Amino acid sequence: MKTVRVGLCGLGTVGGGTFKLLAANEAEIADRAGCHVTVGRVGARRDRPDCPTGGVPVSRELMDVATDPDVDILVELIGGTDTALKLVRTAIANGKHVVTANKALIAEHGNTLFAEAAEAGVSICYEAAVAGGIPIIKALREGLAANRVQWLAGIINGTGNFILSEMRDKGREFADVLAEAQALGYAEADPSFDVDGTDAAHKLVILAAIAFGMPLEFDKVYTEGISAIETVDVDYAEELGYRIKHLGIARMAEKGIELRVHPTLVPEKRLLANVNGVKNAVLVEGDAVGPTLYYGAGAGAEPTASAVVADIVDLARNLALGQAPAVPELGVRTTAIARQPILAIEEVETAWYLRMTAEDKPGVLSEVASICSRAGVSIEALIQKEPAEGETRVPVIILTNRTREEELNQVAREIEALESIAGSITRIRMESLDG
Ligand code: HSE
Repeated sequence: MKTVRVGLCGLGTVGGGTFKLLAANEAEIADRAGCHVTVGRVGARRDRPDCPTGGVPVSRELMDVATDPDVDILVELIGGTDTALKLVRTAIANGKHVVTANKALIAEHGNTLFAEAAEAGVSICYEAAVAGGIPIIKALREGLAANRVQWLAGIINGTGNFILSEMRDKGREFADVLAEAQALGYAEADPSFDVDGTDAAHKLVILAAIAFGMPLEFDKVYTEGISAIETVDVDYAEELGYRIKHLGIARMAEKGIELRVHPTLVPEKRLLANVNGVKNAVLVEGDAVGPTLYYGAGAGAEPTASAVVADIVDLARNLALGQAPAVPELGVRTTAIARQPILAIEEVETAWYLRMTAEDKPGVLSEVASICSRAGVSIEALIQKEPAEGETRVPVIILTNRTREEELNQVAREIEALESIAGSITRIRMESLDG
């Protein structure tokens, strides 16, 4: 049996998990790859006592791994986009195939890297970059290859979903849950990426690029995080039959492609509304297959290592057989579908949850209703609570029908200008996700 040698850079949560998984499942991996897969060299800038590497040589200088003539596959698990970019480009230039879990690297530099890899005749595999252990990249590239994907919507950040679930189910504080997510190895090195939606936006552009055959356009994703979500909105949503989830949505709309990450009210009966904790799920609607749902752990050492090792097995099998990858790389298609513009958020149509604070006096609701009606915004549901003891103001919650965002902005401005409305309106988009 031939031996394929891996150069593993990074021994943190995912790197350590990968090293251990390659050793633990060595026999199964050899069976599936048709060759032995061994870690020939490790690159790590510091000691990792929690991940002893046995007799495998460890280099402090990562570029030595990328240039090592005995390394067949460079596995980049250091994260970030500075050294990681240099490392991957060096590996490609030295004729190595690359496996990475680095969504920021692929989302922000993928267009260049894939072109360089194609030129060098090597592959870049990135299953672990999106949705942790869920094989969503393979599902989109291979399993759904016959379909025109119409839209996809996913919970694609495990840390954020863990925070929202713990806040809703146990009434825990945001900061406290985030600290636990960091301790469990779910969060990014910079956890603001999890909270502000950047991590989900990285993953969404990768999914959209495969689904629609478009270039990676990270700077065009509309991104909103979860830090503004208040418990009161989680409770009202629940009362109305919804859950608040942080979704990444890519949709082929009539006038262009929607790419957006934001908190979203989802009907509680949808499977996606019931994805909790660190779990991720991606719902993909293809024209032939209809809706399909992919679910599993979205972060953590072993689930992410599972995806990294799957890519290593794919590459090792091809190397052992001397054949090209079964499905072409992520790349730009030439069909019209891939040339659609990306819509500005103002052009996007969604239903809305609006929460406002109103004076408890006659006529307020009718003023609000007439602003909505003049703009053609239909009110689908409404809750008005009794004022608390000693209060003269009441919360009013409205669910609207689907409205273009630009029009909703105007409606919100008019309502906020009413004397009987205090402060600004809390607004959260809603999606029915019913295909
Ligand atoms: N920080 C990421 C998450 C890790 O929580 O989803 C997996 O990409």
